[in-house]
Amino acid sequence: MAGSRLELIAPPAGRLLLVGPRATEDLQGFAPDDTVVVQGFRPDHDALAGRGFRVVPTPAAVPGADFAAAIVFLPRAKAEARARVAAAAARLAPGASLWVDGQKTDGIDSMLRDLRALAAVDEVQSRAHGKIMRLTVPQGDWLPADWAGAERVVGDGFVTAPGVFSADAADPASQALAAALPDRMPTRVVDLGAGWGWLSALVLARPGVETLHLVEADAVALDCARRNVTDPRAVFHWADATSFRLPDPVNGVVMNPPFHDTRSPDPHLGARFIRAAAGLLTGAGRLWMVANRHLPYEPVLAEHFAQVQEIAGDARFKVITATGAGRPRRR
Ligand SMILES: C[S@@+](CC[C@H](N)C(=O)[O-])C[C@H]1O[C@@H](n2cnc3c(N)ncnc32)[C@H](O)[C@@H]1O
Repeated sequence: MAGSRLELIAPPAGRLLLVGPRATEDLQGFAPDDTVVVQGFRPDHDALAGRGFRVVPTPAAVPGADFAAAIVFLPRAKAEARARVAAAAARLAPGASLWVDGQKTDGIDSMLRDLRALAAVDEVQSRAHGKIMRLTVPQGDWLPADWAGAERVVGDGFVTAPGVFSADAADPASQALAAALPDRMPTRVVDLGAGWGWLSALVLARPGVETLHLVEADAVALDCARRNVTDPRAVFHWADATSFRLPDPVNGVVMNPPFHDTRSPDPHLGARFIRAAAGLLTGAGRLWMVANRHLPYEPVLAEHFAQVQEIAGDARFKVITATGAGRPRRR
């Protein structure tokens, strides 16, 4: 764990709960047999499970409550960070140790301030542009009830949860894509990176669709989508879109691909979504996607599709359609 803040701490013996570590986190110091990990992002979930940890997708799926200690890994979104702390605290008895680890850029300092106002913080260590802090869980209801992160209802009755993409309202880029979709959609469609289902709901509202596959890596977002899209034509996949495959090709893909992972911009992520879309489509099938205007997806689209056309957009976004998967203009 050299260089990791985790090597600065000494968790007590007994079962340990880790809430939200990414696969990049160095967890060598923790015994897989005694450690339960909450990680709902499928690629990280699978990588951590591959290292022998018992990994569950949501706090609700954590088995038991007899943990000696918990470590919360802070995400950038404040509401999600608080929800993680509340989820960990709910599994700890008074007297147990609760650690919170985070980068300055993820708000560890303001979390530390908030927690100091609620409980005695016993230890704070700094390293690598971040901090790890420990408190002893007090008796009683010590955390404000709203930290648990109630779900919300937005727009026309869509349920969202803290930390999911665009939790406050439909994303403007997705709205631009939806407005540019044809009146009639193909029969078999995939929504790659379906989030909480807003775009999928609009696709299903158009005639033509017989089956719509919602593919989403974030288990919490997909749970919201299951509640938001109750149409029997919808099929839900908790999966990494970049490696997602179906037994038979489809004739439509819609997507508003992510262009950064939770911490840093990743220009290759959208390119991997484009490759995956091409791999899912028949040659006559069609992709509709939206992207921020500055993102240079045209070369990778030309590598995988025969025809690529911008059909809508403005200064911020471009809506692109592409067909002829597997017959690229450029190899
Ligand atoms: C820009 S959002 C679009 C969400 C949704 N389609 C909408 O219109 O609101 C991108 C979505 O892709 C998901 N995502 C990120 N990486 C993913 C991956 N490797 N596989 C599947 N989904 C992923 C994110 O969790 C997020 O929900």
